[in-house]
Amino acid sequence: MWDVGVTYRKKLQTSFDRLFEKKALLQKARPLPAVALRKMREVLAIEWTYNSNSIEGNTLSLRETQMVLQEGITIKGKSLREHFEAKNHEKALEHLYHLLKPGYELNARDILKLHELVLRSIEDDYAGRLRNAGVRIAGANFVPPNAQNVSGLFDDLINFVHTNKQNLNVIELATVFHHKFVWIHPFFDGNGRTVRLAMNLILMQAGFPPAIILRNDRKKYYEALNLANKGNYFKLCLLMCQALERSLNIYIQALPDNDANYREISNLVEEEQLVYGQEYISLLARQGKIDAYKEGRNWLTTKAAIEDYMQNRKRKR
Ligand SMILES: Nc1ncnc2c1ncn2[C@@H]1O[C@H](COP(=O)(O)OP(=O)(O)OP(=O)(O)O)[C@@H](O)[C@H]1O
Ligand SMILES: [Mg+2]
Repeated sequence: MWDVGVTYRKKLQTSFDRLFEKKALLQKARPLPAVALRKMREVLAIEWTYNSNSIEGNTLSLRETQMVLQEGITIKGKSLREHFEAKNHEKALEHLYHLLKPGYELNARDILKLHELVLRSIEDDYAGRLRNAGVRIAGANFVPPNAQNVSGLFDDLINFVHTNKQNLNVIELATVFHHKFVWIHPFFDGNGRTVRLAMNLILMQAGFPPAIILRNDRKKYYEALNLANKGNYFKLCLLMCQALERSLNIYIQALPDNDANYREISNLVEEEQLVYGQEYISLLARQGKIDAYKEGRNWLTTKAAIEDYMQNRKRKR
């Protein structure tokens, strides 16, 4: 079960290369001013909390999540549980940032702690504890393993990450970790929220910003997980690349000397003389073939990204 079929790799190589380049760019750049960094972390914390909880079914909007977290406001008509979920997730994030130190290695204890923080005051009976009975996932094409095997599989998974026998790059590693984790389904509840934290420990430890899976992509996310259950990691890896690219771009655009000018593809096509039309550029964006990212329902890219792609194609011919 630990051998990963990497047939998706060819199709994603351009994406991987670009993401590692962007990471290097960030690491090379002057460190962001402390205020800017703090602000950025705050904004991402709200987005991360909103999106992860919303995927799970929490009905607080982004704005409401912000009010609960930053202003301590209670939202009329929303349950206590939903408020707790927002605040708990924020606490778990604080803990996650606290864990990240040079040389940090992912371990079972820290994952249990994150789970405990996610479910504290909500499901105190099993917050921070592995499940001891069977579970089902609605809409999934498999049944998670028997409770007796959970603890062993959980340890195997951590070991899988540490040994990384197939030499997966860190994006692949985080993706496969995410999938195997929800496949094992170590907890009665809170698996999704916990793994979306834990996989980012892997990415952030390697110098990436957090990959935030967007609420809007929920359907794609579940489809990608179902495909991964059948051993095909293409869609899940692509989704992870897209999530990562979005965060990388947010950081890059905050750099003092940044000149990237991302625009909606429809505007770009209108304003610039381009060889390709809107449809084709959108396709390239969705496939990860050009430097692009999604904001709400729209894909954003730059003129340079399209020109780069054209240059590369010419060179290959
Ligand atoms: N078809 C599937 N195959 C594998 N894993 C799946 C599938 N569908 C959903 N999942 C995973 O299971 C998680 C749901 O598990 P659980 O309810 O324990 O977590 P949660 O944090 O309460 O909710 P959510 O994960 O929806 O945020 C999903 O987030 C997803 O990661
Ligand atoms: Mg749940």
